[in-house]
Amino acid sequence: MKRSEVNEIIRESDKFIRSFGYVMPPFAYWSPEELKARTASDSKAILQARLGWDITDYGQGKFDELGLFLFTTRNGNQEDLKKGGGMLYAEKIMISREKQLSPMHRHIVKAEDIINRGGGTLVLELFNSNVDGSVDEKTDVEVATDGRIVKLKAGGLLKLQPGESVTLLPGNWHAFWGEGGDVLIGEVSTVNDDLTDNIFREPIGRFSSIDEDEAPLHLLVSDYDKWLAA
Ligand SMILES: [Fe+2]
Repeated sequence: MKRSEVNEIIRESDKFIRSFGYVMPPFAYWSPEELKARTASDSKAILQARLGWDITDYGQGKFDELGLFLFTTRNGNQEDLKKGGGMLYAEKIMISREKQLSPMHRHIVKAEDIINRGGGTLVLELFNSNVDGSVDEKTDVEVATDGRIVKLKAGGLLKLQPGESVTLLPGNWHAFWGEGGDVLIGEVSTVNDDLTDNIFREPIGRFSSIDEDEAPLHLLVSDYDKWLAA
Protein backbone atom coordinates (compact mmCIF):
# COMPACT_ATOMS: atom_id res chain seq x y z
CA MET A 1 0.00 0.00 0.00
CA LYS A 2 1.12 3.56 -0.59
CA ARG A 3 1.78 5.59 2.60
CA SER A 4 -0.54 8.29 1.23
CA GLU A 5 -3.34 5.69 1.11
CA VAL A 6 -2.60 4.60 4.71
CA ASN A 7 -2.67 8.26 5.84
CA GLU A 8 -6.03 8.80 4.14
CA ILE A 9 -7.48 5.64 5.75
CA ILE A 10 -6.31 6.91 9.17
CA ARG A 11 -8.10 10.25 8.60
CA GLU A 12 -11.32 8.61 7.36
CA SER A 13 -11.32 5.97 10.11
CA ASP A 14 -10.75 8.51 12.88
CA LYS A 15 -13.74 10.50 11.62
CA PHE A 16 -15.91 7.36 11.37
CA ILE A 17 -14.99 6.23 14.89
CA ARG A 18 -15.65 9.67 16.39
CA SER A 19 -19.06 9.77 14.69
CA PHE A 20 -20.13 7.06 17.20
CA GLY A 21 -18.83 9.02 20.21
CA TYR A 22 -15.84 6.68 20.62
CA VAL A 23 -12.54 8.50 21.11
CA MET A 24 -9.17 6.79 20.90
CA PRO A 25 -6.47 7.27 23.55
CA PRO A 26 -4.01 10.21 23.34
CA PHE A 27 -1.12 8.10 21.96
CA ALA A 28 -3.16 7.54 18.79
CA TYR A 29 -2.39 11.13 17.83
CA TRP A 30 1.31 11.28 18.59
CA SER A 31 3.49 12.07 15.59
CA PRO A 32 6.15 9.50 14.60
CA GLU A 33 8.77 11.76 16.27
CA GLU A 34 6.83 12.02 19.51
CA LEU A 35 6.17 8.29 19.56
CA LYS A 36 9.87 7.60 19.08
CA ALA A 37 10.85 10.05 21.84
CA ARG A 38 8.28 8.69 24.29
CA THR A 39 8.79 5.00 23.65
CA ALA A 40 12.49 5.47 24.37
CA SER A 41 11.55 6.71 27.85
CA ASP A 42 8.12 6.55 29.47
CA SER A 43 5.93 4.61 27.04
CA LYS A 44 7.73 1.36 26.28
CA ALA A 45 4.43 -0.50 26.76
CA ILE A 46 3.17 0.80 23.41
CA LEU A 47 6.02 -0.96 21.64
CA GLN A 48 6.09 -4.06 23.79
CA ALA A 49 2.33 -4.68 23.60
CA ARG A 50 2.22 -3.47 19.96
CA LEU A 51 -0.57 -0.96 20.62
CA GLY A 52 -1.74 1.45 17.95
CA TRP A 53 -2.75 1.78 14.31
CA ASP A 54 -2.90 -1.36 12.18
CA ILE A 55 -4.14 -1.09 8.60
CA THR A 56 -3.82 -4.11 6.40
CA ASP A 57 -4.62 -5.21 2.87
CA TYR A 58 -3.16 -8.65 3.73
CA GLY A 59 -0.43 -7.88 1.22
CA GLN A 60 -2.82 -8.18 -1.75
CA GLY A 61 -3.06 -4.50 -2.84
CA LYS A 62 -6.87 -4.19 -2.99
CA PHE A 63 -7.84 -2.69 0.38
CA ASP A 64 -11.45 -1.91 -0.59
CA GLU A 65 -12.16 -5.60 -1.29
CA LEU A 66 -9.76 -7.34 1.10
CA GLY A 67 -8.64 -5.41 4.14
CA LEU A 68 -9.25 -4.28 7.68
CA PHE A 69 -8.70 -1.22 9.84
CA LEU A 70 -7.66 -1.96 13.44
CA PHE A 71 -6.43 0.03 16.41
CA THR A 72 -5.15 -1.92 19.43
CA THR A 73 -6.01 0.06 22.54
CA ARG A 74 -4.70 -2.41 25.15
CA ASN A 75 -2.90 -5.75 25.23
CA GLY A 76 -1.56 -7.93 28.03
CA ASN A 77 1.59 -10.02 27.94
CA GLN A 78 2.64 -13.58 27.25
CA GLU A 79 4.35 -13.99 30.65
CA ASP A 80 1.07 -13.37 32.47
CA LEU A 81 -0.63 -15.81 30.12
CA LYS A 82 1.89 -18.54 31.02
CA LYS A 83 1.52 -17.66 34.71
CA GLY A 84 -2.27 -17.84 34.47
CA GLY A 85 -2.86 -14.50 36.19
CA GLY A 86 -2.44 -10.79 35.53
CA MET A 87 -3.11 -8.88 32.30
CA LEU A 88 -4.55 -11.62 30.15
CA TYR A 89 -6.75 -9.46 27.95
CA ALA A 90 -6.67 -7.18 24.92
CA GLU A 91 -8.99 -4.72 23.22
CA LYS A 92 -9.19 -3.45 19.65
CA ILE A 93 -11.46 -1.12 17.73
CA MET A 94 -11.85 -2.08 14.07
CA ILE A 95 -13.71 -1.09 10.91
CA SER A 96 -14.96 -3.48 8.27
CA ARG A 97 -16.11 -1.48 5.31
CA GLU A 98 -19.12 -2.52 3.26
CA LYS A 99 -18.20 -5.64 1.21
CA GLN A 100 -14.60 -5.47 2.51
CA LEU A 101 -13.54 -9.01 3.41
CA SER A 102 -11.40 -10.04 6.36
CA PRO A 103 -10.30 -13.44 5.05
CA MET A 104 -10.98 -16.86 6.60
CA HIS A 105 -8.72 -17.46 9.60
CA ARG A 106 -8.52 -18.97 13.07
CA HIS A 107 -6.46 -18.41 16.20
CA ILE A 108 -4.44 -20.88 18.25
CA VAL A 109 -4.48 -19.08 21.60
CA LYS A 110 -6.86 -16.15 21.35
CA ALA A 111 -10.56 -16.26 22.18
CA GLU A 112 -12.27 -13.12 20.90
CA ASP A 113 -15.59 -11.41 21.31
CA ILE A 114 -16.45 -9.59 18.09
CA ILE A 115 -18.96 -6.82 18.75
CA ASN A 116 -20.95 -4.75 16.27
CA ARG A 117 -20.58 -1.26 17.80
CA GLY A 118 -22.55 0.54 15.11
CA GLY A 119 -23.10 1.19 11.42
CA GLY A 120 -24.13 -1.59 9.04
CA THR A 121 -24.64 -5.32 9.61
CA LEU A 122 -21.55 -7.40 10.39
CA VAL A 123 -21.64 -10.74 8.55
CA LEU A 124 -19.44 -13.63 9.75
CA GLU A 125 -18.91 -16.90 7.85
CA LEU A 126 -18.09 -19.70 10.30
CA PHE A 127 -16.63 -23.22 10.24
CA ASN A 128 -15.31 -25.66 12.85
CA SER A 129 -11.77 -27.09 12.68
CA ASN A 130 -10.85 -30.66 11.80
CA VAL A 131 -8.48 -32.47 14.20
CA ASP A 132 -5.54 -31.37 12.03
CA GLY A 133 -6.70 -27.73 12.27
CA SER A 134 -8.00 -27.45 8.70
CA VAL A 135 -11.47 -26.14 7.82
CA ASP A 136 -14.22 -28.65 8.65
CA GLU A 137 -16.62 -28.32 5.71
CA LYS A 138 -19.22 -30.67 7.24
CA THR A 139 -20.14 -30.23 10.90
CA ASP A 140 -22.56 -27.67 12.30
CA VAL A 141 -21.08 -24.72 14.15
CA GLU A 142 -22.31 -23.56 17.56
CA VAL A 143 -21.38 -20.14 18.88
CA ALA A 144 -22.45 -18.03 21.85
CA THR A 145 -24.03 -14.71 20.97
CA ASP A 146 -25.09 -12.46 23.85
CA GLY A 147 -26.47 -15.22 26.03
CA ARG A 148 -27.88 -17.31 23.19
CA ILE A 149 -26.36 -20.32 21.46
CA VAL A 150 -26.72 -20.09 17.69
CA LYS A 151 -26.35 -23.20 15.55
CA LEU A 152 -25.33 -22.83 11.90
CA LYS A 153 -24.49 -25.17 9.03
CA ALA A 154 -20.78 -25.35 8.14
CA GLY A 155 -20.01 -22.09 6.32
CA GLY A 156 -23.24 -20.55 7.59
CA LEU A 157 -23.54 -16.78 7.90
CA LEU A 158 -24.07 -15.13 11.27
CA LYS A 159 -25.40 -11.58 10.96
CA LEU A 160 -24.76 -9.18 13.84
CA GLN A 161 -26.74 -5.95 14.11
CA PRO A 162 -25.40 -2.96 16.10
CA GLY A 163 -25.17 -3.99 19.76
CA GLU A 164 -24.87 -7.72 19.02
CA SER A 165 -21.72 -9.81 19.50
CA VAL A 166 -20.30 -13.31 19.18
CA THR A 167 -17.67 -15.23 21.15
CA LEU A 168 -15.20 -17.02 18.86
CA LEU A 169 -13.03 -19.68 20.48
CA PRO A 170 -9.66 -20.99 19.23
CA GLY A 171 -10.44 -23.32 16.36
CA ASN A 172 -13.52 -21.39 15.15
CA TRP A 173 -12.66 -20.48 11.56
CA HIS A 174 -14.10 -17.05 10.68
CA ALA A 175 -14.22 -14.49 7.88
CA PHE A 176 -16.26 -11.28 8.08
CA TRP A 177 -17.39 -8.19 6.17
CA GLY A 178 -19.80 -5.25 6.40
CA GLU A 179 -23.24 -5.33 4.77
CA GLY A 180 -25.45 -2.30 4.15
CA GLY A 181 -22.72 0.09 5.31
CA ASP A 182 -19.36 0.28 7.04
CA VAL A 183 -19.29 -1.32 10.51
CA LEU A 184 -17.54 -0.19 13.70
CA ILE A 185 -16.36 -3.35 15.46
CA GLY A 186 -15.13 -3.86 18.99
CA GLU A 187 -12.88 -6.78 19.88
CA VAL A 188 -12.34 -7.96 23.45
CA SER A 189 -9.96 -10.90 23.58
CA THR A 190 -7.27 -12.94 25.23
CA VAL A 191 -3.74 -11.47 25.03
CA ASN A 192 -3.03 -10.93 21.36
CA ASP A 193 0.04 -11.75 19.28
CA ASP A 194 -0.63 -10.90 15.64
CA LEU A 195 2.86 -12.05 14.65
CA THR A 196 2.13 -15.69 15.53
CA ASP A 197 -1.56 -16.29 16.25
CA ASN A 198 -3.31 -15.87 12.88
CA ILE A 199 -3.73 -18.97 10.72
CA PHE A 200 -5.21 -18.13 7.32
CA ARG A 201 -6.96 -20.64 5.07
CA GLU A 202 -5.37 -19.16 1.95
CA PRO A 203 -1.65 -18.38 1.89
CA ILE A 204 -1.78 -14.68 2.72
CA GLY A 205 0.17 -12.12 4.77
CA ARG A 206 -1.16 -10.41 7.92
CA PHE A 207 0.55 -7.06 7.26
CA SER A 208 1.05 -4.75 4.28
CA SER A 209 4.30 -3.64 2.75
CA ILE A 210 4.36 0.15 2.48
CA ASP A 211 5.47 2.25 -0.48
CA GLU A 212 6.76 5.49 1.09
CA ASP A 213 5.34 8.19 -1.21
CA GLU A 214 4.81 10.72 1.61
CA ALA A 215 5.59 11.11 5.33
CA PRO A 216 3.52 8.99 7.76
CA LEU A 217 0.81 10.83 9.68
CA HIS A 218 1.07 8.21 12.44
CA LEU A 219 3.13 5.02 12.54
CA LEU A 220 1.46 1.64 12.14
CA VAL A 221 2.28 -1.17 14.56
CA SER A 222 3.98 -2.89 11.61
CA ASP A 223 6.28 0.17 11.27
CA TYR A 224 7.61 -0.01 14.82
CA ASP A 225 10.52 -2.40 14.29
CA LYS A 226 11.89 -0.33 11.40
CA TRP A 227 11.02 3.23 12.45
CA LEU A 228 11.59 3.07 16.19
CA ALA A 229 14.84 1.10 16.20
CA ALA A 230 17.29 2.84 18.52
FE1 LIG B 1 -10.04 -13.33 14.33
